[in-house]
Amino acid sequence: MERKRWYKDMVFYQIWPRSFKDGDGDGMGDLWGVLEKLDYIKSLGCDGIWFSPIYPSPGADCGYDIADYMDIAPEFGGMEAFRKVLDGVHARGMKLLMDLVVNHTSDEHEWFQKSRQRIDPYTDYYIWRPAKPNGKLPNNWDSNFEGKAWTWDEVRGEYYLHLFAVKQPDLNMDNPLVREEVKKILRFWLDMGVDGFREDVITYISKAEGLPNDRIFPIYKGMRKYNHGPHIHEYLAEFKRDVLDHYDCFTLAEAPLVWPKRALKYIDEKDGQIDMMIQFQCQTADCLFTDYLPTKFHLRKMKKAFSDWQYKLDGRAWNMLYLENHDHPRIISRYGSEQYREESGKSLAVSYLFQQGTPFLYQGQEIGMINWRPESADMYEDVQTRYNYEHSNLKKSPEVRLRKMWRSSRDSARTPVQWDDSENAGFTTGKPWFHVNENYREINVAAQERDPDSLLNFYRSAIALRKSLDVVRHGSYREHFHSSKKLYVYSRSTDRQKLLVICSFTDRETKMKVPSGFDLANAKLILQNCKDADSSTLKPYETRVYLWE
Ligand code: NOJ
Repeated sequence: MERKRWYKDMVFYQIWPRSFKDGDGDGMGDLWGVLEKLDYIKSLGCDGIWFSPIYPSPGADCGYDIADYMDIAPEFGGMEAFRKVLDGVHARGMKLLMDLVVNHTSDEHEWFQKSRQRIDPYTDYYIWRPAKPNGKLPNNWDSNFEGKAWTWDEVRGEYYLHLFAVKQPDLNMDNPLVREEVKKILRFWLDMGVDGFREDVITYISKAEGLPNDRIFPIYKGMRKYNHGPHIHEYLAEFKRDVLDHYDCFTLAEAPLVWPKRALKYIDEKDGQIDMMIQFQCQTADCLFTDYLPTKFHLRKMKKAFSDWQYKLDGRAWNMLYLENHDHPRIISRYGSEQYREESGKSLAVSYLFQQGTPFLYQGQEIGMINWRPESADMYEDVQTRYNYEHSNLKKSPEVRLRKMWRSSRDSARTPVQWDDSENAGFTTGKPWFHVNENYREINVAAQERDPDSLLNFYRSAIALRKSLDVVRHGSYREHFHSSKKLYVYSRSTDRQKLLVICSFTDRETKMKVPSGFDLANAKLILQNCKDADSSTLKPYETRVYLWE
């Protein structure tokens, strides 16, 4: 089937279901809550939803440890609620993306339970290795979450590989039976009417032959041996050929440590196996490789990452654009300023919404939610945060260690969405499963609905503008003043339209800079976050978008 690529005209909204909206009063976000909020999502100008996992799961990694791929967890409302949401999404002309997590399952999945007992055909569904005579582990790989990547299983009397938590054993994708299972899962949801998949750490599914040791690497030892492994393109092509090509759907692959040249091997529109890629380069302007190694924010690093992807994918592949998701602390707390929350939130919104690609918003981003900072480390829920707190910087005081977590934890962005200023931020009428950020009385949807100048309404205007301008979809991208440490300036141009985007990333007033060839006297100022734009000075975190046509 010819790919329609409708995703190029869309804006997506990511729902991390536990914290979005509780509809049945049990304290946990669910699909009944989503149903109540579909009109809200649509009102933002979003026409697609990506659901983080909503399948049955013991919850060791908040749903990324799946126990049954072909059902919906009862706490989220089960299949009944899901079908209603799917219909509601389609009735509004929107699309729905499911999360496909097939690098690993939960250890409570039936396949793993049978595999550990060597019950066929499940015996080789996972990556098992015997103990070595010298007592060493099968190889030197680290997991991404909980120490070494191998755990001994008493039942089977062997080690199993887990690149994430101990409760997330890796599937053996080299086994054709496992690949058939993946295809069954894809068909099951596509036949039900879902419109595509976000594929979790999909670049990890093919491990190097023989599982060799990796050289020492500052973090994630082993990654060189399992990321972009030997059969990755072959397996993805197989899923595409056997299933995806037969449906009107699209795929979005999560790819840690990827840069444009490598990405094109996956997403080149001529011969790629998937449609878009979630890259992490735009997330590392304030850290080394990962949020757990924080540094100062470097605007030039952020600009370089964005521009590289814009230039190198141009005409060949399509960008996925994002600032936030459930794996990173809130963007205003990182790249913006909590003191200038509204202004920097708007400048950040503009910085990515006018690039070429399909933008994604993460729940709460549109109202400028900021990092949650618990009083004590035992308030954290996330498996990765807990492990890191207990195992790193042990010589430092508990206060210093806690502060580090505030900056780096995924839980900083996983608190319930702040709907209004009533108890529990209007998220639930019950006892919330997780802590609500105390700032909900000031930062909430209801208050911003009433204020025409709010960040929420700014997002609406920016998205509507983006959709109305041909140049945003088709124009060529150019970055200006790339050595500036204060401004991010880029233009987009077609034969008929030209757009100039100016974003200040400083809390001081700064000189307005206009690239040569852009005559503001003939331009329309179509979006701004400060009234009375001054021709020579930008206010802290001021942003403007000019149009020529
Ligand atoms: C990436 C997901 O985004 C993250 O939340 C999850 O913990 C890991 N993959 C493991 O599935």
